[in-house]
Amino acid sequence: MVYLDNAATTAVRPEVLKVIHDSLLNDYGNPSSTYRIGKKVRHSMIQARKQLAELLNVAESEVYFTSGATEANNWAIRSQAEKSKELGQGNHIVTTAIEHPSVTNVTKYLETQGFEVTYIQPNERGEITVQQFIDVTTNQTIGWIAMAVNNEVGSILPIFELGEEANERNLWFHVDSVQAVGPMAYDYSQLKCTTFVGSAHKFNGPKGIGFLIYRSFQEHNHLGPLLYGGGQENKMRSGTENVPYILGMVKALELTFAEQEETFNKYEKLHHYLLDALNELDIEFEINGDMNNRVPYINNLWFNGNIASQMLIKMDLDDVYISAGSACSAGSLTESDILKAYYPDQPERWSQSLRISFGYQTTREDIDQFIQSLKKISEGKIDLWHSKKLQN
Ligand SMILES: Cc1ncc(COP(=O)(O)O)c(C=O)c1O
Repeated sequence: MVYLDNAATTAVRPEVLKVIHDSLLNDYGNPSSTYRIGKKVRHSMIQARKQLAELLNVAESEVYFTSGATEANNWAIRSQAEKSKELGQGNHIVTTAIEHPSVTNVTKYLETQGFEVTYIQPNERGEITVQQFIDVTTNQTIGWIAMAVNNEVGSILPIFELGEEANERNLWFHVDSVQAVGPMAYDYSQLKCTTFVGSAHKFNGPKGIGFLIYRSFQEHNHLGPLLYGGGQENKMRSGTENVPYILGMVKALELTFAEQEETFNKYEKLHHYLLDALNELDIEFEINGDMNNRVPYINNLWFNGNIASQMLIKMDLDDVYISAGSACSAGSLTESDILKAYYPDQPERWSQSLRISFGYQTTREDIDQFIQSLKKISEGKIDLWHSKKLQN
């Protein structure tokens, strides 16, 4: 099997699985219980929070465990927006047209609740710039939202510079850092945002666990509670904590950070290896997204004339797993909104592009097999109709 869809999700590392297994089997006490086995679990969670804070260079009190980044994005954006409006600070939010649905669908909801939202489009070079944010900011603007790395095309957004400018304007600033946490060597203590998020299944941890980092920025404007109940997570997100997955997530991040530089260098080499191999075989392609500010581990390529959804099915039959865009649209293969934002005048690109994304286990052999598969498809050697008959 060749798995090249690590931007969608990653395999859980064996060391992480062991941590989760041991915790589930041996430490099943409730962290809120007052007897010893509960206290032991509570202690391990406190340690995990401390370790996560150290890895990200933030304060322990700023860490909230969540069920993933969708929850964290929803919580951070809604809470900060609603609080600002309640305080009479304004109703205008600036974000980009290339955000993940867990951000875009929140801002769309906020629009139905009296908020005004400006969606910044990538410029002709495929960039989202700080100046674009500044230009549309008014005295009604309450907050800015931007992702760190785009999940479909791998563009890097200027979150550090945006943070400086947001801070100067006394705006809250939310960063969806899901595709950066792990591979990117960012010092989050230097990121002047009020909230940022992470999701364990993007860095070889389990699905259904993530975090929100919140730093209060104005005396009156504080993040509100997400869930009311027993008062866990400092009364902000009630519910018995998923300690085995919290421990697994922190272990996954620890392992990822320990190999960060080495892995990033590997991604750069793999990126060039992929492009060189395609060129050598005279396979026509164009890279989608920002050409200058991009990560090497997410490659979105336009194969002119080839319908991506058909290529995906044929590759699937060949045991090669890639994607045509965001996998988070519940298995649907609709045209990519992100590619529409980048290339509004080139509709053929929207449905003829593939995403190839690397993980720590990706090798050159994986890329060789992907290329072989592409070749087989172009030579008509993978027959959809025939295989459908076989499956039936
Ligand atoms: C940029 C980005 N934000 C948010 C999410 C949602 O994360 P989760 O799966 O933890 O809800 C994803 C997942 O694909 C993503 O890529």
